[in-house]
Amino acid sequence: MQGDIQNIVILTGAGISAESGVATFRGPDGLWEGHRVEDVATPEAFARDPDLVQNFYDERRAKLKTVHPNAAHKALAKLDAQWPGDLLLVTQNVDDLHDRAGSKNLLHMHGELNSGWCRACDGRSPFDGVMAAGPACPLCGQSGQLRPDIVWFGEMPYQMDRIDLALTQCDLFLSIGTSGAVYPAAGFVQTARHYGAQTLEMNLDPSEGSFHFHESRMGKAGTLVPEWVEEMLRDV
Ligand code: OAD
Repeated sequence: MQGDIQNIVILTGAGISAESGVATFRGPDGLWEGHRVEDVATPEAFARDPDLVQNFYDERRAKLKTVHPNAAHKALAKLDAQWPGDLLLVTQNVDDLHDRAGSKNLLHMHGELNSGWCRACDGRSPFDGVMAAGPACPLCGQSGQLRPDIVWFGEMPYQMDRIDLALTQCDLFLSIGTSGAVYPAAGFVQTARHYGAQTLEMNLDPSEGSFHFHESRMGKAGTLVPEWVEEMLRDV
């Protein structure tokens, strides 16, 4: 797998944070912590029942304070620090575990729990409290206008231009802990492969797009990712 690899793009999903104790989205019952997706993760849900949606994300934000980066987050931060080529880590996760592990070349394409988006001034600012209480926006001072800075279904993921460019230029695309159910992230493997990248998947079980990858490694991210990082850094 190593060969002439210089530029790497890594996509992570909820599976990488599972061993830290953060729930993944798609359980066997199709519910997110007991909620239907359309009740908590769409702009329409927020318009219909803002308290339900705010409480859902407030709970998830509070939970973040009780969890820690695991061996997989730490191994990717080590690779980020030591890899001599370009490396871009794109996460679908709205937790801050990659940040806390120390990854620097990191994009949160689906937003962040610890960020608020003000509907009055359109500004985004760090936020780690309780949004249901209707706090004032630190930028414009208006109360009750903050919403979670999370990309909901029907909204455009962040920084797609930068991600698309990196996908066309990478030599290796690695996907970790994602079910491959949500686009555009689920299509990254096809773009990278189309432009000539090697493609590798690590997941507990085959994702929906498993057949697109050159290689699939099945198991826990906390075991597979550190092993792979050591492989990559062996000859650096
Ligand atoms: P999912 O919950 O759909 O998928 C998580 C994947 O991780 C599953 O395929 C599991 O088998 C796998 N998994 C679980 N534990 C694992 C472990 N220890 N090691 C490796 N893999 C493991 O989560 P995502 O694919 O991230 O968007 O979901 C994509 C998006 O759907 C989310 O970003 C979210 C949701 O809509 C937004 O909130 C905007």
